[in-house]
Amino acid sequence: MEVLIVGGGGREHAIAWKLYQSPIVNRIFAAPGNAGMERIATCVPIKATNIEGMVEFAKDNEIDLVVVAPDDPLVMGMVDALEAAGIRAFGPRANAAIIEGSKVFSKELMKKYGIPTAKYEVFDKCDEAVRYVRTQSCPIVVKAEGLALGKGVIIAATADEAEKAVRDMMEGGKFGSAGSRVVVEEFLCGPEISVLAFTDGKTVRPMASAQDHKRALDGDEGLNTGGMGAFSPSRIYTEQIADECMKTIFMPTIQAMNAEGRPFKGVLYFGLMLTKDGMKVIEYNCRFGDPETQAVLPRLKTDLAEIMLAVLEERLDDIRIEWRDDAAVCVVLASGGYPEKYTTGYEIKGLDALEWKNHITVFHAGTAEKDGAIVTAEGF
Ligand code: AMP
Ligand code: GLY
Repeated sequence: MEVLIVGGGGREHAIAWKLYQSPIVNRIFAAPGNAGMERIATCVPIKATNIEGMVEFAKDNEIDLVVVAPDDPLVMGMVDALEAAGIRAFGPRANAAIIEGSKVFSKELMKKYGIPTAKYEVFDKCDEAVRYVRTQSCPIVVKAEGLALGKGVIIAATADEAEKAVRDMMEGGKFGSAGSRVVVEEFLCGPEISVLAFTDGKTVRPMASAQDHKRALDGDEGLNTGGMGAFSPSRIYTEQIADECMKTIFMPTIQAMNAEGRPFKGVLYFGLMLTKDGMKVIEYNCRFGDPETQAVLPRLKTDLAEIMLAVLEERLDDIRIEWRDDAAVCVVLASGGYPEKYTTGYEIKGLDALEWKNHITVFHAGTAEKDGAIVTAEGF
């Protein structure tokens, strides 16, 4: 097969690295890819959100399978557009990707189908939201309705902070249209676990569990980022908890999406929190997590291309998916100052000495090639 991977982060590099090992994959393209992916894939300068460009490239190059990895093209309907052009695409259609694209949708889905999650209220008027947060106990959680690069969630320690978060989102336009509605949510407490699951809309096959770390600097002392690392498996996520999640969260979610006429095919990411009242859903993502994927896929023994085809052909219940017992950890190295102001264009040295040795694999995110050297470029 000729495969095209949409995206250019560490997650996409890990997906490409795994697909590269598949005997049924002949060639990999990545759009836009990154300097690390260049070694195993042909990178093409098409933006991940350029739906028309992607469809055209896939048609012109007779791509057999497009893997749409990031959230925005999924929510924007890239899979629908590829399918309409007769191209096979891995990932949910827009009507199912809404499970990540709209927090109001996902909260209402969970309420309607009795899936455990934090209590919440939705507001589309700023003064009502402010009045509400003033009557609640703190901490309290304020979330922008739409996609905000994982940064649209404020955990407010005081009512003043909560009011400021609401005003920033609803009046200040801090997250653009993503903040025109807000969800105000009960604050939950407990360790967080990420479970990514393959699903063909009928069967759910959870991958090995993981935990991610979002804050920069050692000891969790820095700012929130897109993710500074992850490990797999999670020790907290025992077999008994996994069984319970299958019954109370995973299957009910798949069935709920079907009942709503929005069958979900692809990877569904369950962001879970183990609270004193049991496991609850903090968020859904309609895709592989980043950086969880970088820790989870190296543990996958089974051919990822075969799993993806099984998802597309709705025969996920027929295949065996096997995992290595070894644990994996992903550590993100970022340019100083990240996630705020950081310098790009620094040469990154020593990568070749690391690769493939001592069980270390280097996945690139936000790197570029300049005069034959790998340099820091933009992250997220
Ligand atoms: P989200 O974008 O919904 O995943 O939220 C980002 C992060 O905010 C989560 O990974 C949690 O650490 C935290 N968070 C979100 N909702 C809550 C909540 N109701 N209670 C406590 N922490 C939360
Ligand atoms: N690691 C969190 C995410 O992928 O959204």
